[in-house]
Amino acid sequence: MASIKILGIAGSLRKASYNKAALKAAQGLVPAGASLEIADLPDLPGFNQDNEKSPPAAVTDLKAKIRAADAILLVTPEYNYSIPGVLKNAIDWAARPYGDSAWKGKPVAIMGASVGALGTARAQYHLRQCFVFLDMPVVNQPEVMISAAASKFDPSGNLTDATAKELIGKLLAALCALAEKSGKA
Ligand code: FNR
Repeated sequence: MASIKILGIAGSLRKASYNKAALKAAQGLVPAGASLEIADLPDLPGFNQDNEKSPPAAVTDLKAKIRAADAILLVTPEYNYSIPGVLKNAIDWAARPYGDSAWKGKPVAIMGASVGALGTARAQYHLRQCFVFLDMPVVNQPEVMISAAASKFDPSGNLTDATAKELIGKLLAALCALAEKSGKA
């Protein structure tokens, strides 16, 4: 396998975020030959199309990181049955101006953790819809939905659930395979 650079972004600004912790766990589960760099989700102002040609520096930086990556891993919480605004906002900033989206063509995989029973299922399906317009090939299987997150991480934020770890490993392998197939690596 060629060396594949994955960029991981968790969609929470919270210090003790389960989704940030799940992304950290993923770093230890990447297949041989691949690497996973974590980009902190920038705390951005709400997207305003008036400013899309002179975005905050954090947007320029995020776009550069996305462009330098072979594949993307998005780790989403679920807010009110959907994508958290902060994550959707960052996706929107990095997709603009029209014709200069950093996301276009990037293979992507998604996973998520929530304290609820469905483990971000509804947010993940909304996120998948965004990939249609963003033109990002997406891993379909496995689906990694970490439910009842409070019972699956230890107090230091280490993922302790064996099933979740196994699924994350398979998700990353599928993402690398998709990146190779898409000619990104
Ligand atoms: C939530 N939470 C939540 N959980 C869920 O399973 N489905 C949901 O629709 C929601 N909605 C929701 C809305 C808002 C505004 C908040 C703050 C929280 C709970 C959520 O799963 C929990 O706060 C997670 O810990 C958020 O992810 P991080 O920050 O731990 O990564």
